[in-house]
Amino acid sequence: MAKAVFPNPDGTLVDIGGGTGVITAQFAKGFGEIHIVEPSRRKRKHGQKQRPALRFHDARAEKLPFKADAVDCLTAVVSFHHMTDHAAAAREAYRVLRPGGRFVVFEFHPRQGYGRWRSPDMVAGHMHFMEPEQLVAILRDANFRCDGAVEIDEGYIVTATK
Ligand SMILES: C[S@@+](CC[C@H](N)C(=O)[O-])C[C@H]1O[C@@H](n2cnc3c(N)ncnc32)[C@H](O)[C@@H]1O
Repeated sequence: MAKAVFPNPDGTLVDIGGGTGVITAQFAKGFGEIHIVEPSRRKRKHGQKQRPALRFHDARAEKLPFKADAVDCLTAVVSFHHMTDHAAAAREAYRVLRPGGRFVVFEFHPRQGYGRWRSPDMVAGHMHFMEPEQLVAILRDANFRCDGAVEIDEGYIVTATK
């Protein structure tokens, strides 16, 4: 992730479904502003206490609390499979990113490790693990330029550019 986000001290990174920010704080180092969109009150509260430099927002991917063209880099680390409306999340990502900005998504592969064991709808809450090609298609439908996925450990990274 750290290699894919290109830190910029004048830039803003928004991590969607960033939880407590424990992972975000590692890969987002070097950005001027780091925001976390997280619907879980418990995670936001814990994260804000542990990492006061990060800004937590009570929101969801499908409706982001940012103006159009305002964000330099968006990330989603094993959170895209939780979203109930993937197309809406992709459209929102496109709306808030500045032209040339990047949306970097890390997801588990549905046929390996975690993704295989916790296959769609096996556990409480919404989960829909998808093949890399399906994620790429959703992002392209939202107008992103997207080269394809890079396999990594039990998952893959897709980078989409506005
Ligand atoms: C598996 S956790 C990953 C947390 C963090 N990215 C990490 O790697 O530690 C998935 C997160 O997505 C959040 N989430 C679920 N639905 C969401 C939605 N519609 N929009 C944004 N975040 C969501 C959950 O509350 C949870 O914190």
